[in-house]
Amino acid sequence: AVDPGGPSAENNKLASSQSSQEEDRTTSSRRPAAEESCDDMRVLVDRSHRLPRDYAPEDLVSLLNYGVPTLGGGEMLLRREAAGHLKSLVADAAADGEELVVASAYRSYADQRISYRRLRSIYGRGAGEMSARPGHSQHQLGTAVDFTNAAAGYEVWDYFGETSASLWLRDHAREHGFVLAYPRSKEAETGYQWEPWHYRYVGARNVEHLEESGLSLQEFLAREGVLPRC
Ligand code: DAL
Ligand code: ZN
Repeated sequence: AVDPGGPSAENNKLASSQSSQEEDRTTSSRRPAAEESCDDMRVLVDRSHRLPRDYAPEDLVSLLNYGVPTLGGGEMLLRREAAGHLKSLVADAAADGEELVVASAYRSYADQRISYRRLRSIYGRGAGEMSARPGHSQHQLGTAVDFTNAAAGYEVWDYFGETSASLWLRDHAREHGFVLAYPRSKEAETGYQWEPWHYRYVGARNVEHLEESGLSLQEFLAREGVLPRC
């Protein structure tokens, strides 16, 4: 697999960059009203469930303002709650000697179309297992990030999964509310190839519920039943 990334949207209004370590109401376990479900941390976005073309989170913040390293120092956006927890994740990793650099974060519908078309032009139909079609990407939620580091040559590829930083994430991402979305063992279920670099923030409380359930993220989100209606 290869880099499925694309440009981060730079024309989106930045929300306040003030960090919030508290999980907001969107991570609670109550079932939300349909019109707010695209902002719920548990919303199911996969090959069969798509976000509207015009959906963009309203609380996007710049990772640079949070001191999170980005590839090439580029401007990348994430929802405020996810950015706050990503900041502590990256800092904890650094304290353990592990480098994590964000290669891609929020991608608008239009960004995702560019990414998908780029891979499609290279891989043809096979691109569908590497890149989500526009509307179907967790990156449009503003809660998904792709990591890389020096050990992986600052590229987004399978080799990242062999690095010590990837092992660190396997052990510690959950403490910060992040989950590996496309595991090697779940390719048939998710419809995507193993992506050791792609983590989705759902909040620590939802990670706890997920782990208690023994389900995969895909199954858990399907069971929670928060659909992208907004
Ligand atoms: N590479 C993942 C599936 C995405 O494009 O969202
Ligand atoms: Zn990704």
